[in-house]
This record gives sequence, structure tokens and C-alpha cells, in this order.
Amino acid sequence: MEKATQYELQLARRMSRLGTETAFEVLSKARALERQGKSIIHLEIGEPDFDTPSNVVEAGVDAMRKGWTHYGPSAGLPDLRQAIADYVSRTRGVKVTSDEVVVVPGGKPIIFFTILSLIDEGDEVIYPNPGFPIYESMIEYVGGRAVPIRLREERDFSLDVNELASLMSDRTRLIILNSPQNPTGGVLQRRDVEQVAKVIGERNIIVLSDEIYSRLLFDGGQHFSILSVPGMQERTILLDGFSKTYAMTGWRMGYGVMRPDLAAHMTRLMTNSNSCTASFTQVAGIEALRGDQGSVDKMRDEFQRRRDVFVAGLNKIQGFSCRMPKGAFYVFPNITGTGWKSKPLADALLEQAGVAVLSGTSFGAFGEGYLRLSVANSMENLQGALDRIDQWTKKNL
Ligand SMILES: Cc1ncc(COP(=O)(O)O)c(C=O)c1O
Repeated sequence: MEKATQYELQLARRMSRLGTETAFEVLSKARALERQGKSIIHLEIGEPDFDTPSNVVEAGVDAMRKGWTHYGPSAGLPDLRQAIADYVSRTRGVKVTSDEVVVVPGGKPIIFFTILSLIDEGDEVIYPNPGFPIYESMIEYVGGRAVPIRLREERDFSLDVNELASLMSDRTRLIILNSPQNPTGGVLQRRDVEQVAKVIGERNIIVLSDEIYSRLLFDGGQHFSILSVPGMQERTILLDGFSKTYAMTGWRMGYGVMRPDLAAHMTRLMTNSNSCTASFTQVAGIEALRGDQGSVDKMRDEFQRRRDVFVAGLNKIQGFSCRMPKGAFYVFPNITGTGWKSKPLADALLEQAGVAVLSGTSFGAFGEGYLRLSVANSMENLQGALDRIDQWTKKNL
């Protein structure tokens, strides 16, 4: 309960434009239902259900014991910045140096800092819709003009380059790409990425390429970054991190790779907001990047196994039709056949069937007609969720 006070809360106007990430709200609603004794299967939150690999945990604990418990440089520890530069150079086939790397607490701050440092009022930003809700939220927060590019099911949720071209204007400052994509699991193939670069041409537009799921590609798919397209490196901000790849969501560590002059400004934003990313976390990050990668492949293979079973199961449920996602750990079924709108259906599945899912509209207006379900849960729970949804539809449709 809010405390009564004679002082009116006088928020800055911009706060009315700040959005949120519904996953956290659904999680707290689901937890409240659990406290009332209801059984809930959690398919709402986007984090691996695996533990952080033990070599990384050991490195973090050891770092704490060795005194990595103080402030560090705002842009990140030099050794980690170098490890990231080496990793990005290797995986994206371009030369990256450590002064192009800014380490931040999670992938999210790179979205925040990119938009804060580049977007003035009225500047246009093209971003995927349905898409990660923080993009739209931050664009609107700073007074930018949010220009959604619709990701269509019939294109396997890849973007239409002609549509992108038609959305670009003299005021376009930033284009946000995300592959593999949250929430659809869509992937931009090499030819798509090259066409995006072609459409941008020589324009002075920055691309924020959110590649946080770059190691979660299925069926042997290869990740391709716009950073790798000749001529795009100085106009690209690569966002990647540790949360999804190494099951390190709670450690809070991610990074941006960008031209050094922009990196200096992002570093100033770090100094103003966080001072630095936790030092022992960063030491563990060096081990994550340089140590054994077996757990990354194991996790990906397990997500793929679950995806296969879950998508097959969803397609047997009345009113559901689900494409096979190519990456990340989400499925995004079309639910128009149920005759329900997304949000009421998500609410009903939580409250009546005991399955926490997200409405497609949590990811923007073009998410209507879809739900997002995470396969970052045990096979047993996924099977249980399928049974519950199936029973619910049989009773209610
Ligand atoms: C597309 C996308 N970008 C960025 C993030 C942020 O990740 P982090 O937890 O590292 O801040 C997420 C997390 O869900 C995401 O889905």
C-alpha cells in the first residue's frame, strides 16, 4: 500500500514515456498466484535455466578472495576489454581493438547509452516490432521518434529490406537490428544483413546490432553480423554479453563494441551512472571467454531438443500454429485460430491454466495474434505446460 502523503509526487514529464519489460510484471503476478497455493509453470522470463558454468563461478569466487572487490576503470578492466576484442575479432572476422570495447552491467545499458548518446528529440530510430520492448521504451523516453519495422511471420520474422528502405528518412539516425531475435526466434541470414548494409549505403546512420543471442543458433546455423560487412564497422555498435551465452543473467555484464570516439562518450555515461561493472564479475568474464566453451554448446543443443518437442506439441493444440524458431530460446506461436486476442489469452493461461506466458503485444503492437513462450525450462515442465494449455483450450474454445 502506498503511504498517504500531503506532497504530490511530481515526476519529470519524460517518465510518462518510459515503458517497461512485461516479463518482470508477469513473473511477479505468477509468484503472487503461487503464494496463494496455485501451481504455475514459468515460461515467461527470458533466462537460461542452467547454472553458470563452474569454471566461471570458480573464477568469480577466486577473484573476490583475491581482492577484486574495488572500483575499476569505467570502460572495463583492460584484460577483459582485450579478451572481448579478441573474441569479437575472431567471431566477426574484423579487427577490433580494446579501445573500441565498453564493458557495462548487462546488455541493456548498451541500448540505454546508445540512445542517450545519439538521439535528440525528433530523431528517428527504426527498430523491430515485435521486438525487445526496451528499444521502443528508450526511444520514446528521450523524445525520439520510434519507427517500427514489422517482422512478419510469412518471412520467418526476418525483416523486409524494401520496407526498411521505405522507412528511412533524412531524420533516421539509428537502425536497431536483433538477430537471433527476441521474441520471435527469427534470424537474419547473411544475405539479409548484406542487403540492409546496401540499403544504408553511404548514409551517416548508426546500426545498433543486438547480438546477445549470437551463440544460440540452431540446426548448425551460422551467425552473421553487420559488423563483418565491409564499410559498416565504424557505423555499427555491436551489443553482446554474457547473460544468455554463459547463463550469467544475475552477474550483470555485457558490452558494446564501437568506434573509439563514441566509446569514450559511452564510458562517460558509465562514469555518471554505474562508475564501473563489478570487478570480480569482469574477472569471471575473462574465464568465460577464454575457458572451455563446452557448456555453451551443450546448452544450445538442449534448447534445440526442447524447441523441437515444444513446437511439435504446440502445433497439435487447437488454434495454435507455430513456426520453428531458428535461434534464441523462445517460441512465438500464432494464436489467431483460438479467436482470442493475445493479452486476454495470456492472462487466462496464467490464471486458469497455470502457465505463465507473455502476450505478443508485450513486444509491440505487431505482436498481436501471438504469444511468447520460453523453452528455458525442463522438458518435464514444457510437457506439463503443453498438457495444461491443451486441456484449457479443449474446455474453453
Ligand atoms: C534482445 C535482447 N537484448 C538485450 C537483452 C538484455 O540482456 P541483459 O540481461 O544482459 O541486460 C535481452 C534480455 O532479455 C534481450 O532479449
